[in-house]
This record gives sequence, structure tokens and C-alpha cells, in this order.
Amino acid sequence: MKNIPHEHTLDSSLAVITEGYHYMHKRMQELNTDIYETRLLGEKAICMHGPDAAQLLYDNEFFWRKDVLPKRVQNTLMGKDGVQMLDDEQHRHRKALFMSMMSRDRIQELMDMLLRYWRAYALKWEKMERVNLFDEAQEVFCLAACEWAGVPLKPTEVREHANEYVNMIYGFGGIAARYLRGVHARNKSEEWNSQIIEDIRSGKLQVPEYTAAYKFATYRDLNGELLSTRVAAVELMNIVRPIVAIATYVTYSALALHEHPEHLEKLRSGDDKFAQLFVQEVRRFYPFTPFLGARTRKDFEWKGHQFEEGTLVLLDVYGMLHDPKLWPEPNEFKPERFKTWSGSPFDFIPQGGGDFDMGHRCAGEWVTIEAMKVALQFLTQEVQYNVPAQDLTVNRNKMPTKPKSGFEIDQVHFVG
Ligand code: HEM
Repeated sequence: MKNIPHEHTLDSSLAVITEGYHYMHKRMQELNTDIYETRLLGEKAICMHGPDAAQLLYDNEFFWRKDVLPKRVQNTLMGKDGVQMLDDEQHRHRKALFMSMMSRDRIQELMDMLLRYWRAYALKWEKMERVNLFDEAQEVFCLAACEWAGVPLKPTEVREHANEYVNMIYGFGGIAARYLRGVHARNKSEEWNSQIIEDIRSGKLQVPEYTAAYKFATYRDLNGELLSTRVAAVELMNIVRPIVAIATYVTYSALALHEHPEHLEKLRSGDDKFAQLFVQEVRRFYPFTPFLGARTRKDFEWKGHQFEEGTLVLLDVYGMLHDPKLWPEPNEFKPERFKTWSGSPFDFIPQGGGDFDMGHRCAGEWVTIEAMKVALQFLTQEVQYNVPAQDLTVNRNKMPTKPKSGFEIDQVHFVG
């Protein structure tokens, strides 16, 4: 039996908060290992790295998600009792509902809405002295996501609700004020979304049957029961919130374009294959998901290491996206590297890995990729802009993170 190396610490929780994306990667390098044991939030945790580790963590025979999400993540980013916290039949049943919204036609509908809002915003930007792309993209995504999901949203309420979603997303890794903003935002947004579910159920609000709002309001679980109003609201938010989160990837895409203007011409020419490579490289290069967690559901042995039932195991997602064994010259931005990527479900996992239907892989990965392509098309082919001097640093010690200034542009001209 091989011993798992130990990180010598009483508890690493503070290091995770202060070192952010580097935390696990750094320990792996210091201990010269792909697996180590530590303590997090007062319990033993095993941290793992690499495609084999990802494959293990996504094997439902050995792992489940019961009691995995820390309270701070439930109170901000994810909420309680949503699909992320389910296992086995219950999970597959509810996940199927999410996946039923991801047909080609429905995704195309969302893309059309996004392009319509991008264009409307470009006309507004022409009259503005400075435009903060991160802030504006949140509104574009919030408007399109709500319309697509059957959530009524007045133009005057966009800022308020976009802010709530962003505060939830950026709240989970924060301490003090940032975390409390996240908690407050989740409570307010759950109240708003619960009212929508109630209004659909009472017939006060009518929305098309194919929308997420209708589907969650009327979904019956394996026992034939409706979801509680609050859980239906949490699931509706599990659709709208991550669509708003794509604003972060769009901001990173603009940053990548700015830092690597050599790719501009190809994107401007409408080369869809290259746009796909570019988007994949943005999802690999820039930090978003730091790590993923699961809990062992029984005792077992893997590669000579003993795992005990009930152990928290974390997968080093960010480290895997920057591992030179998987991505030569990982700190270079090179879209072409994806030309030869095998398409494995376990080595490139910015939005989780494994199987969409049977496991917890992100239900919105195709939406994310397509929405990033639409935004790139818009930014490279439909608007011209200048990038003034600003602080574009991405602080990887903070989770989640983004370019500090949010990516400001000026002299915007909509060329259509
Ligand atoms: C799950 C990342 C966009 C819906 C996840 C997971 C990650 C992730 C890391 C967890 C995978 C796991 O636990 O194994 C992201 C990122 C996004 C994004 C970085 C881009 C901003 C979206 C979008 C949607 C979405 C656009 C919906 C339209 C979901 C759902 C789950 C999930 C419902 C839970 C799946 C399950 O537990 O079975 N996402 N996601 N995500 N994502 Fe996304």
C-alpha cells in the first residue's frame, strides 16, 4: 500500500482563500505528487490531479455528491437542494430535465436573442464615453437568459438582477463583505424566482411550455411530487445564473484578443473552426472553476492508495488546465493546440468532465461555447473599439477572478 503524502497544516481553508487558484497546484509541485492529503474546513481531504483522477472522481460507483458542497457555496453560488447535490436516480431524473433544454434549436434561439441584445447595446455604447465590457455583458446575458428561460424582466430591473447573479458568483470565494453580498443576493434572487414559480403554478403568469421557468414549475420528481417552490426557484436560477456567468468568459475573450491581436484577422474573416479553437483556449487559459469536489461512497483502493468511505476528495481543475504534460507551454495562449486535442472527457474539464446525462458535467457547456462564439463574432466583426490604458491584471489569488478593470473600451462604432 502506498502512503498518500500529507500537507503539514492544521487546516488549509485560509490558504485556499488567500492563494486561490494557485493553492492546489502549488502544493502538488512542492510535494512532487499528483495526490496529497490535507485538512479543509476541519475535515480530512484528499486533493488529486490528472485525467485518471478525474475519471475516478466521475465514477458513480466510487463517488457521490452527498454532503460535498460547503455551506458558503450553498449560501451564495449554488443554493440548497439543486441538481448539483443529488445522486443516482434522483440526479439522473432531474438532470434529464436540464438536458432537455439543450437541444440544437433551443440553443440557437438563445444565440439569436444574445446577438439581438449585443447589437442593441452596441448602439447604446456609441453614445457612451467609456464602456465596461464586463458590466455590460452581464446585462446582455441577463436579458437574453431571462427571455429564453421564460422569466419576465423589465429593462429597468436588469441591472439589479444582473448584480444579484454576479454577487452570487463572486461571493463564494470571498470573506466578509464580498461573501455577505453573495448571501444577500441569493436570498433576494430566490425570493424573486420563487414568486415567478408561484405565479406560473397559479396561472397568473403564462409562459411557453418549453421554457425553463415552466419546466421547473411543473416538473414532477420520481415520486410524482412537484418541487417545493424554493427548490424550483433554485433550479431556475441554475439556468439563468450560469448564463450570466458567461460574461466573465466574454471579458477574458476580449482580453485574449487584446493581448494576441495576431488572431484578429482570422476571427474577423468568420472562420468558425478557428473561433472554436480560440474559445477552447480561452476556457483553458483563464481561471474560472478552481476545483471540484466529491465524497467517496465506500472503501476502495486506487493505484495502491487506500480511500476510506466518506472522504472528501478535490480535483485540481485549474492545475490540470495548466499542466505541461497535458498542454505543452501551458502559459502560452495558443488556440491551435486544440486542433489535435483528442476530445477526452477527462483531460480538459473547465466545466467538469465525464458524461452529461449520467454525471454532474456542466449542463450548459454547449451553450457556453456557442455564446462565446457569438460574442467573438460580435466583437470582431460588428463593432470597432479602442482599448484605453487600464489595469487588466487577473489576480489568480482571488476566486473567482477577472481582469481588474473589467475591460474598458471607448470610441465604440457599430458597423453591423
Ligand atoms: C455544473 C462550470 C455555464 C448549468 C457545472 C460544473 C462546473 C460548471 C465546474 C460542475 C461540474 C461537476 O460538479 O462535476 C461552468 C462554467 C460556466 C458554466 C465555468 C461558464 C460560465 C453554465 C451554463 C449553464 C450551466 C450556461 C446553463 C445554461 C449547469 C448545471 C450544472 C452545472 C445545471 C449542474 C450539473 C449537475 O450537477 O449534474 N458547471 N458552467 N452552466 N452547470 Fe455549468
